[in-house]
Amino acid sequence: MSLLEQLAAAVGERNVLTGDLVAGYDRDWTGAWHGDPRAVVRPATTDEVAAVVAACAQAGVPLVPQGGNTGLVGAASPSDGEVVLSTTRLRAVGVPDPGTGTVEAEAGATLEAVQTAARSAGLELGVDLASRGTATIGGVLATNAGGARVLRHGTTRTQVLGLEAVLADGTVVTRMNGLPKDNTGYDLVQLLVGSEGTLGVLTRALLRLSPRPAARAAALLALEDAASAVAVAGALRSVPGLDALEFYTAAGLDLVLAAGRARTPFADAAPVHVLAEAVGPDADVLAEALAEALEELPGLQDAALATSETDRARLWALRESHTEVLAPLEPVKLDVAVPLVALASFLERLPEVVAAVAPGVTPVPFGHLAEGNVHVNLPGARPFDVDGAVTDAVLGLVASYSGSISAEHGIGRAKRRWLHLGRSAADVAAMRAVKQALDPAGLLSPGRVLPDPLA
Ligand code: MLT
Ligand code: ZN
Repeated sequence: MSLLEQLAAAVGERNVLTGDLVAGYDRDWTGAWHGDPRAVVRPATTDEVAAVVAACAQAGVPLVPQGGNTGLVGAASPSDGEVVLSTTRLRAVGVPDPGTGTVEAEAGATLEAVQTAARSAGLELGVDLASRGTATIGGVLATNAGGARVLRHGTTRTQVLGLEAVLADGTVVTRMNGLPKDNTGYDLVQLLVGSEGTLGVLTRALLRLSPRPAARAAALLALEDAASAVAVAGALRSVPGLDALEFYTAAGLDLVLAAGRARTPFADAAPVHVLAEAVGPDADVLAEALAEALEELPGLQDAALATSETDRARLWALRESHTEVLAPLEPVKLDVAVPLVALASFLERLPEVVAAVAPGVTPVPFGHLAEGNVHVNLPGARPFDVDGAVTDAVLGLVASYSGSISAEHGIGRAKRRWLHLGRSAADVAAMRAVKQALDPAGLLSPGRVLPDPLA
């Protein structure tokens, strides 16, 4: 039996897509990463996933797991000849359990579906991304996505209590008992979280939920420079229930306003804007606490407070619209982090570093201020980055501050050449040993995360 026949036997003929039917699965949404997959296969259960993986293993055909395909580093977009294992039919979300503060979800469930289920039970999932309507739990876990709520909840891995995955030979590993204490052997769950499809295909997860806050209040601040934005992080640390601290600059705001995606509450444009949000029992008390903490803030030009859902959504739209309004400009996108103390210096030096390798390109930075996480978007830089010169310059600047070359988007295919800027040779060797042990034939998402051995 051919591989395609085996796959059809495993998932049903209508769930093995080839030819034009692979459209949408064959490239990422930015268009930067695409390939010609051998087929797209859509299993509906963990057993079907296992059968697909085993068939590909037996045939020696590489396979890439794919959820919502919202990734930004080419991890889930196929290289030529790969089989795309789409998890979009694994969509079940369990009933949240207020007693244990947990919920089960299959890998293909969207982040939004899990958030909605949690809210219906008076709970909340501590992960939130602008792509919540399309990003799937499997992809969010495989990336160890960050998002806007890391400040209070930690990254995705902090929310993962259990996992089920299919390993490279089709073996199913299940650790879903949800026991708060279970120190029995290596932590395969945490090893698989953030492995970007290279160590296993995630099929199901047990997620931690927390009580849903009674109220939220947000403050948008117009600031005269990046140093003032960093000062906000210090000033607000004392605010109980601080839940998010985001930033964007005038360059991104101009694009958002020009696209008509949101309206700014300020008459004058400021160089930098910070969006803060806090949670607690009473929205007005929260707003007062935010206002009080910002009273003496140097460089504060203007501020807008929001306590209603509608007003908060208006402020968040200014920040969350950045990705979509930038996408048509096909920017080079570099998700990085630097120590907060170095953030102002990094942002100030970035334009000159970029101009040296990409004349005329103006950076559009935005991101998660609390973690020093900057999404460096460089519209018009792609032609200058064909050989990686722009990526080299920016990641080199990040490394000079002992920063991270990938704060939350992962490495994928985009950054494997630069892994050495953030990981020692010993560290990379240990990662290779793990990859060799779990995927000796190198069939799971080859060419992602780890650099080529001779590189
Ligand atoms: C965001 O923070 O908006 C997301 O990481 C997406 C992006 O960086 O474009
Ligand atoms: Zn982000």
